[in-house]
Amino acid sequence: MVSRVIPVDPFDLVIFGGTGDLARRKILPALFRRFCDGQMPREARIIGAARTRQSAGDWAAWVGEALEEIVPERLRTAEHVAEFLDRLDYLAVDAKGDDGWSDLCDTMRADAVQAFYFSVAPSLFGDLAERLHQFGIARSDARIVVEKPFGNDLASAKALNRTLSEYFDETQIYRIDHYLGKETVQNLMAVRFGNVLFEPLWNTQYVDHVQITVAEEVGVGGRGAYYDQSGAMRDMVQNHLMQLLCLTAMEPPSKFDPDAVRDEKLKVIRALDPVEAEDIVRGQYKGSKDAPSYVEDAENPESRTESFIAIKLHIANWRWNGTPFYLRTGKRLRARKSEIVIHFKEPPHSIFDEDAGSRTNVLSIRLQPDEGIDLRVTIKEPGPGGMRLIDVPLDMSFAEALGAEGTDVPDAYERLIMDVIRGNQTLFMRGDEVEAAWAWTDPIIEAWTRRGDRPTQYEPGSSGPEEALMLLHRDGRRWREIGG
Ligand code: BG6
Repeated sequence: MVSRVIPVDPFDLVIFGGTGDLARRKILPALFRRFCDGQMPREARIIGAARTRQSAGDWAAWVGEALEEIVPERLRTAEHVAEFLDRLDYLAVDAKGDDGWSDLCDTMRADAVQAFYFSVAPSLFGDLAERLHQFGIARSDARIVVEKPFGNDLASAKALNRTLSEYFDETQIYRIDHYLGKETVQNLMAVRFGNVLFEPLWNTQYVDHVQITVAEEVGVGGRGAYYDQSGAMRDMVQNHLMQLLCLTAMEPPSKFDPDAVRDEKLKVIRALDPVEAEDIVRGQYKGSKDAPSYVEDAENPESRTESFIAIKLHIANWRWNGTPFYLRTGKRLRARKSEIVIHFKEPPHSIFDEDAGSRTNVLSIRLQPDEGIDLRVTIKEPGPGGMRLIDVPLDMSFAEALGAEGTDVPDAYERLIMDVIRGNQTLFMRGDEVEAAWAWTDPIIEAWTRRGDRPTQYEPGSSGPEEALMLLHRDGRRWREIGG
C-alpha cells in the first residue's frame, strides 16, 4: 500500500487497564504497528497502569507475548518488537485509592503530548479523572480516551459526561467508537465528498432505500454477563450502526474538521423519527449440536435480551423523506459481513422492451471482510440475443486496487490512537452526539420492555429471524444475502 507516514509528536500515553484484554488485543498491537511504520517518534513512551504490582520488565514481557500472538508474523521482526518494548514503562496505580499516583506524576514529562487511555470499566472513569486532577498530573492540554459503553441510557450517559466535564474540557475528551476508525468508514466520506458523481443522486429522489448490515458469526461467548444487560440495541445500534447511518445520511460538512463533521452527524440523529413496534424485529440465537444457545451463553434461561435486531427507520428531513433506512445486526449469523448498501431507484422510464428486464444501480461499501466499494451498473447482456439487461460490478477491492494484502488494512485503533496524539477529534463522538443517540434509543427499549416483548428464536448460521426478512418483503424489497 502506498503510505505516507508523518510521525506524530513525542508523547506519554498512559493506558489505565494496561493489563486488560482491550490493551492486549487492540491498543498495544495498534501502537506496535504504528511504531513499525515509523509513525511513533523515538521519544514516545507507553506507560501501562493497573492495580497489579509488577515491574516494567514483567509488563513488557507480557506485551511481547501479546504481540506474538496477535500481530501476524510477517508484520513483525524480533528487532522491531525489542525496540517497541523499550518504549514501555509500567506503574501500579489504584484507581480508587492514593497508591501510585505521585509516581505517575513524577513520570510524566512536561514537554510531551499527554494522553490517558481509560481502558477500564466506566464506573472507574470518574475516579481516574478526579485523581488525575487531584494529583496535578493532567495538564490543560492532556487528552483522555474513553471506550464504550458510554452509559447504558440517556441518564447514565449524561451523568458520565457531567463527571468527566468536571475535570476535562470537551476538547480533551476522545470518546472512541472504533467503527469510525475503520478504513472503509473513512472511505465512505471520501467517496461521498471527494467525488462529484454521487452527491446529486444522494437523496430521496434517486435513492430507493439504504441497508446497513453488521453481521457476526461469533456468539456472545464469554461476554454473556455484560451482553445480557446490553443486547444488540445498546451494544451495536446505539453506537456503531448509528455512526454508519450518520455518515451515510449527513449533509456535506463545510470542512473535514471535528465540529463541522459532528454537527452534521448530530442533525441526522435528531431528525430520526420515533420507531413503531412493527418496524422492529428482535431475535435470539438457538443452540446447535456444536454451540450453546444465547440463553446458555448468557447463563440466563429467562433472558429477553436480543442478540439480533432489525429496524426500519426514517429520517425526517428534506433529503431523506420517503427513503427508508433498514438496519440489522446480530450474532451467530451466517457469515461475518458488514456493509452499507445504497439501492438506487429504477430509471423513471424504460426505453427497452419489458422482457429486457429492469435493473437498478446498487452501491455497496464493504466494511469487512474484503474492504472495498462496489457499484453495480446495468449493461446489455453480451451476445446476439437481443437487448437483455444485466448487472455487472464496477468493483474496487482495496486489497487489489491498492496492492495491499487484505489483512494489512490498518486496524481501526491505529488510526484513532494516532488521532488522539495529533489532537484531532473528527473521528470521535462528541458528548451531545452520544446523548442524542441515547435519547432516540431509550424510548424504543422502554416500549418493548413495557410490552414484555420476547425476542424470536433464530437458527445459528442463518440470516436472523424470518420476521426480519418480512420487514423488507412487506415493502417489496429484499435484504442482500449475508453469506455465500
Ligand atoms: C463491539 C461490540 O463494540 O464491536 C461487540 O461490543 C462486537 O459485541 C464488536 O462484536 C464488533 O466489532 P468488529 O470490529 O469486529 O466489527
